[in-house]
Amino acid sequence: MKKLIDIVTFDFNSFIGREIGNVTILKELGRGNKGVVFIAFQKSLKRQVAVKILPKVCATTEEQREQFRDEAEIIAVLSHPNIITIFEMGEETDFYFQTMQLISGSDLDRIIAQYQKYPVPTKRLIPLGHTVNLMIQIVDGLGYAHDEGIIHQDIKPSNILIEKRTKRPLIADFGIAKTAHIETHLKEGLITGSPIYMSPEQASGEETDKRTDIYSLGILFFKMLTGALPVRKENAEEILARKINQPDTFITRMPTEASPLINEELEKIIFKAIEVDVEKRYPDCENFKNDLTQFRDKHLS
Ligand SMILES: Nc1ncnc2c1ncn2[C@@H]1O[C@H](COP(=O)(O)OP(=O)(O)OP(=O)(O)O)[C@@H](O)[C@H]1O
Ligand SMILES: [Mg+2]
Repeated sequence: MKKLIDIVTFDFNSFIGREIGNVTILKELGRGNKGVVFIAFQKSLKRQVAVKILPKVCATTEEQREQFRDEAEIIAVLSHPNIITIFEMGEETDFYFQTMQLISGSDLDRIIAQYQKYPVPTKRLIPLGHTVNLMIQIVDGLGYAHDEGIIHQDIKPSNILIEKRTKRPLIADFGIAKTAHIETHLKEGLITGSPIYMSPEQASGEETDKRTDIYSLGILFFKMLTGALPVRKENAEEILARKINQPDTFITRMPTEASPLINEELEKIIFKAIEVDVEKRYPDCENFKNDLTQFRDKHLS
């Protein structure tokens, strides 16, 4: 497979002012590992939107393009209050793009980090009630996508945007993991997704189903509840190797020890979501959501 372009050397600045699909790129909003998100202007509807540019890391085959188009069609019809609405997905010679609803707010990665900076230790975490309510909505959104046959495969704090005005969580980057995956994994044996949040089966390149997202949601929940994850300080490769060979040694401290907010009931919910054995994990988002709702009704209302 011929290498086409490298994300590091990709000239994102040259995108400013450029027309892509039916929008004009205005300015950079943020940068991830796989691409860059810009604010853009859609002339036809006189509104601002967000556009994610994903450079093609290597040349694609017609079969991969078709897969991307099929996936784009399914993602574009997802309609849920906790999922970012996609307006358009398309490709040019050296990149894919996704035009979507622009969220005014911040992502969970930044929000968790901001809380951690509070001088008063007891205020360094998102309040428990708020965390559980956010999780219930995120799980609901993901459950809806699963029912529509879409697995996210890259659930992590930076892919959950919180709208400032409504405090509503919205899941971003559906389909991105797959798109990037198409580009890289065959060539280099690389697996896209974020090592810490990735399920053991995804890390080992096995077949995955919706339960891979449930694992990532469990780690996300753990992170929201404790501020920082009690895992070994290792690089991405070591984390992946641990997930495959010694998955039970990944978490170094019990959730109840990691945060005073976590009781045994909540710990049980976390552990059921991050079970290494997929058969013991929550079978679907509905089951996960039921336990969260029960916990909320019992302890937080
Ligand atoms: N629709 C959107 N509206 C507002 N901000 C967005 C939107 N989509 C993404 N962002 C912001 O843009 C930044 C970059 O997003 P991007 O998805 O490229 O990176 P990431 O999720 O951190 O990493 P990765 O490339 O591994 O997915 C994030 O900080 C995110 O908060
Ligand atoms: Mg993202």
